[in-house]
Amino acid sequence: MNLPLMSLLRCPRCRRPLDAERDPTDRLNCRSCGTSFPIERGVPRLAGETYSASFGRQWNRYDVARPDEDEATFRIKTGVDPRDLAGRLVLDAGCGGGRYARLLGQHGARVLGVDLSSAVDKAAELCASFPEVAIVQGDLLDLPVAEEAFDLVYSIGVLHHTPDPRRAFAQIARRVKPGGRLAVWLYRRNTPPQEWLNSGLRAVSTRLPAPVLEPICAGLGALGSIPVVNRTFNKLANFSNHPDWTLRVCDNFDWYAPRYQSHHTPAELRRWFEEEGFADIQELLPAKTGRLYDWAYRHDLIIGSGVNFFGVRH
Ligand SMILES: C[S@@+](CC[C@H](N)C(=O)[O-])C[C@H]1O[C@@H](n2cnc3c(N)ncnc32)[C@H](O)[C@@H]1O
Repeated sequence: MNLPLMSLLRCPRCRRPLDAERDPTDRLNCRSCGTSFPIERGVPRLAGETYSASFGRQWNRYDVARPDEDEATFRIKTGVDPRDLAGRLVLDAGCGGGRYARLLGQHGARVLGVDLSSAVDKAAELCASFPEVAIVQGDLLDLPVAEEAFDLVYSIGVLHHTPDPRRAFAQIARRVKPGGRLAVWLYRRNTPPQEWLNSGLRAVSTRLPAPVLEPICAGLGALGSIPVVNRTFNKLANFSNHPDWTLRVCDNFDWYAPRYQSHHTPAELRRWFEEEGFADIQELLPAKTGRLYDWAYRHDLIIGSGVNFFGVRH
């Protein structure tokens, strides 16, 4: 157990530090209110899995870590070179199965990864060989972590899966220390017909039991390998065209299973950064370019694309 990282944890009930000065093995106790939290498989459990069960299932089931791709994605979606993070304190807000926490562990960063779901088990396993990476099960909506502590906070594809993305944004923004950086990637709001169709499809898919939805996602995964199909129909309904089969099926489940999925505009996310006191706010653009792609992106036609900003805290 990484005690300096554990000392950044706060009691979800009374917000005071947890007793992380000695090496706890099975419980973390609050010095102030006496609440006790279990540590299971090396992961402090400061929240229970609620609406996020589909994520626990997907990240534990599909092995999606792809080191080269993860590094490229991290650079694009945070605007940060992982090599610049050696020795820095970083919060991975919604770490999922831990692919980016592991990447930063490899580059010598000190990382606290927080996620609500049992994906933390996968993340802890993936990051086990990096003692400077710690994983915690906790809720971003009431984040049990010290404020103004981190050099970098990033959240990739997470806040739109909470019931209150603006609140979650405020919670993670307040964990950035003055002069530190925040990077957030959220789903982009598409055109009204695309949004209506997606809401209709998800109204059905989110009610399906996972063993029924998974084969459907695999079927969509097969469609996603056919270029002519995936370049046309995925402008209507989302399905992944990732070249890797496992990632295609996982991406599809990631889209159609979660209970909450909200879509946002660039102006909205920029405003959130401003409201939380960030400066030097920059929009981060996708790696993919080309005249047709750029035009479709600017007109909000690419389903599953993002709004992505980076800022520095005053
Ligand atoms: C699409 S996944 C992204 C995971 C990771 N950032 C990645 O890109 O690999 C979204 C994650 O957000 C987590 N999540 C949703 N609501 C949360 C909350 N309130 N607090 C913490 N994590 C949450 C889910 O459990 C899930 O692992």
